[in-house]
Parts: sequence; C-alpha cells; structure tokens
Amino acid sequence: MTRVDACIHRNLQSDIMMIPAIGHYIVHSGGKRLRPLLCLLIARLFNYRGDRHIPLAVVVEFIHTASLLHDDVVDSSDQRRGNPSANGVWGNQASILVGDYLFSRAFQMMVADGDMAMLKLMSDVTNALAEGEVLQLSRTFHLEMSEAECLEVIERKTAVLFKAAGEVGAHVAGQSEHTIARMAEYGMCLGVAFQLMDDAMDYLVASEEAGKPVGHDLEEGKITLPLIHAMQSDPALVERVHTIAERGGYADDDKSWVRERVEAAGGSTFAMQRANDYASRAKSLLPDVDSAVCKLLADLADFSAHRRI
Ligand code: FPP
Ligand code: MG
Repeated sequence: MTRVDACIHRNLQSDIMMIPAIGHYIVHSGGKRLRPLLCLLIARLFNYRGDRHIPLAVVVEFIHTASLLHDDVVDSSDQRRGNPSANGVWGNQASILVGDYLFSRAFQMMVADGDMAMLKLMSDVTNALAEGEVLQLSRTFHLEMSEAECLEVIERKTAVLFKAAGEVGAHVAGQSEHTIARMAEYGMCLGVAFQLMDDAMDYLVASEEAGKPVGHDLEEGKITLPLIHAMQSDPALVERVHTIAERGGYADDDKSWVRERVEAAGGSTFAMQRANDYASRAKSLLPDVDSAVCKLLADLADFSAHRRI
C-alpha cells in the first residue's frame, strides 16, 4: 500500500497547480483505500510476484475518486468523510474537471500497462458505473422502488468497482477464468455489503456522531433499502414520504421524524442484515486455504458489513 500511495502521488503531478491541490485533498481525506487493498490482497493470495498490480490498483482508486468528485456535485453534498467536500472548497466546476483529469489519467495508465483485457474490463466497469448513476437519477423519488431495483442500482453504481478490484488481482496473477470469476463475485458481494451499510448509516443517529450527514438520501430523492423496508409496515411513513416527494425535499421536522420511523420499523437493521448476508456470500467464495491473506480478505468482507465509517 506504500507503493500504491507513491504511485498515486506520482500520477497526481501536473504543472496545472489546481490538479495536485484538489487531487491530494480528495485522495488524502481519510479514504479507506479499500479497492486497491482488495486488488493487492487478491494478487498476493495467488502468489503474484510482479509489479503490474500497483498501477492497476491505482487505476481503480482514481476511477473511484473521480466518481466521488462528480458524485458530490450531483448530490449537492458539501461534506465527505466529515470534511468539506472538494466542491465545497473549490466549487463544482473545479471538482468536475479534476474528476475528468483523474478519470482520463486512469485510462492513460491502463494504456501504459498495455493489456487489452484490462482496458476492456475497466471501460465496461466505468460504463456500468455511469449507467448506475443515471438509473438512480431516473428513480428519484420513485416510491414504488422494489428491493430488487434497489440492489440493481447498488450493483451498478458501487459494487462494480469492487468487482473490478477482485478481477484485476486474479487476472494479473494469471488465474483461470473460473477463479477470476469467483474473485470478481467476491468483490461484487463485498461492494454490495459496503453500499448497504452506507444506506443504513444514512438513517442512523450514530452516523451523525461519526461526522457523516444523515437523512441526505431521501432529501436527494434516493429511495434506499432501509426506507423501502420500513414503508412496507408503516402507512403513516408512506404518506409522509409522498408529501416530501411532492414538495421535492424536507420541511420542518421531516428529517428527524422519518429517521425515527425508519429506525422504529427496523429499516436500518434489515439493510444491515442484508449486508451481512452479502459478506457471508463473499467469504464463501474465497479459496479454502489457511493463509493470513485469506483471513484478511474474510475480515475485509466482515468489515464492509459492520463498518461505522
Ligand atoms: C456514491 O454513492 C457514488 C458512487 C458509488 C458512484 C458515483 C458515480 C458517478 C457520479 C459516475 C461518475 C463516472 C465517471 C466515469 C467518473 P452515494 O452518493 O450513495 O454515497 P456517498 O454517501 O458516498 O455520497
Ligand atoms: Mg453521494
């Protein structure tokens, strides 16, 4: 991971000063570097001894970072990880454009790696990512959203990048198609667990204490699993959410009222249980070997379903 950091640093260099400034700000703002870590661990799991996994792990992290720069503009979010978001500090235009820089730098790095299979994988993944975000946008305040539709958005907008990290690790280590597919699915399941926890935390008081804004998803019209589950057993909640949807946002005590009802109906608990199911599935896909790396990968799956950060 030290080599990953050095590679990130090298690839953020530009004589256009705003690029390293914003790039370093977002890359060093307390991100967990989960995706590159996954990529490195999976390469190590299969005893890879080369160097390609380092820049390819950075490619995954850069695409992720670019998507966050864009996402905070799309979501009008002025906070990320308890700090002002890049758009909160430099404005929307700078965030979008530096996001474009990171995204295109990621593709330059893949071309330098020179493996068409990796270019195909990452171009498909970023396409799915963009599709997932557009799908989510088209479902703004779509109160009939089903659990299956919600999971489809999650798979496309978040889990695909975790899937890619798993796939890259196994691919550089020269594994068979079958093993690559298993590691891709491990990443995918871990990614779904990760996003389900994000969605659960948006309704939990504890998140506010951890410096994460709560109640933002519904305010933006995102109908996530905790709310879908709670609405199934609470007609008064459905009625209130309809009013919020018609108005296009919160008024008065809407935010805390909805959060309390969702918690009372077990919405966040349900989403966290689902996250746990996905983490278990991820662990079941790991090879049956007694190694420290394998144990770490299992711990990472557990972390995704139990995190509070
Ligand atoms: C976070 O979700 C956002 C994503 C997982 C993906 C964002 C992707 C884009 C905006 C597409 C960008 C595409 C390219 C090619 C650069 P969230 O808003 O639910 O979670 P948050 O709490 O972290 O904001
Ligand atoms: Mg967001």
